[in-house]
Amino acid sequence: MSKILKRLAQIELNQTFIEAFDLPATLIQIQADLHPGQLDFVNDHTTQILGVSAGYGAGKTRALCAKAVSLAAANQGFIGLVMEPTGPLIRDIWQNDFDDFLESYSIPYTFRASPLPEYVLHLPLGDTKILCRSFENWQRCIGINAAWCLCDELDTVMPAIANKAFPKILGRLRAGNIRQFAVASTPEGFRWMFNTFASEDALTRTDRKLIKMRTQDNPHLPPFARPSSIAARRAVSNSVPCPFLALLIHALTAG
Ligand SMILES: Nc1ncnc2c1ncn2[C@@H]1O[C@H](COP(=O)(O)OP(=O)(O)OP(=O)(O)O)[C@@H](O)[C@H]1O
Ligand SMILES: [Mg+2]
Repeated sequence: MSKILKRLAQIELNQTFIEAFDLPATLIQIQADLHPGQLDFVNDHTTQILGVSAGYGAGKTRALCAKAVSLAAANQGFIGLVMEPTGPLIRDIWQNDFDDFLESYSIPYTFRASPLPEYVLHLPLGDTKILCRSFENWQRCIGINAAWCLCDELDTVMPAIANKAFPKILGRLRAGNIRQFAVASTPEGFRWMFNTFASEDALTRTDRKLIKMRTQDNPHLPPFARPSSIAARRAVSNSVPCPFLALLIHALTAG
């Protein structure tokens, strides 16, 4: 068979795959597979600034994968933005987990790595782009009109950068049906997560909400990676020299 015929056959196969894709059934299945904290995070489409604060392995990145598909479905044809702290983390964490996620639910997509990574989900109401960007290079996010933005591990970004970038990125959310900024991070002390969700000023705001999850909430971790709740909290507290900071981390991660 000639190369052109092979390519045409591949295009036809892809088209059949896209037409057979059942988005509502897939969304129901994704929800059924989430644990309660993840479900609260994914199902909240009304809070403008939404956070999930959790310890290692609690299912933060997985929740962001489900959230990305859910927001893409609600904003078909509009751009979404996914940010990791740095460019290499986009490749090492996000692409790895999101590829697995899309494939496990047979969601039709195309990925383009260069010049900057982007996914196109082939959804029933139109192709829907998800741009992947480095949070530390937020100045490069120019000319984007997005509906939503998701950030992973934002508290590992220097507070000076995170605080400066946050309002600028919010300003990019000016398209689509549901506009939302959602972040998942392990809290790192008095950084962006604390300022945005737990400070005195933040607690007076009605545009934001923080959901707390714990490592032991994730039933999908292998047993050796699932600490008992007491051991997990003691380990975190012991690793922090300042007792007040230990209390703060406990308050941000305890259920
Ligand atoms: N709802 C789920 N269904 C199936 N697997 C899940 C689910 N939630 C989490 N997992 C799996 O549990 C493991 C840990 O999840 P994930 O990487 O999302 O946690 P995390 O909080 O982002 O971890 P880290 O602190 O290392 O960033 C992964 O293998 C992930 O695929
Ligand atoms: Mg993660």
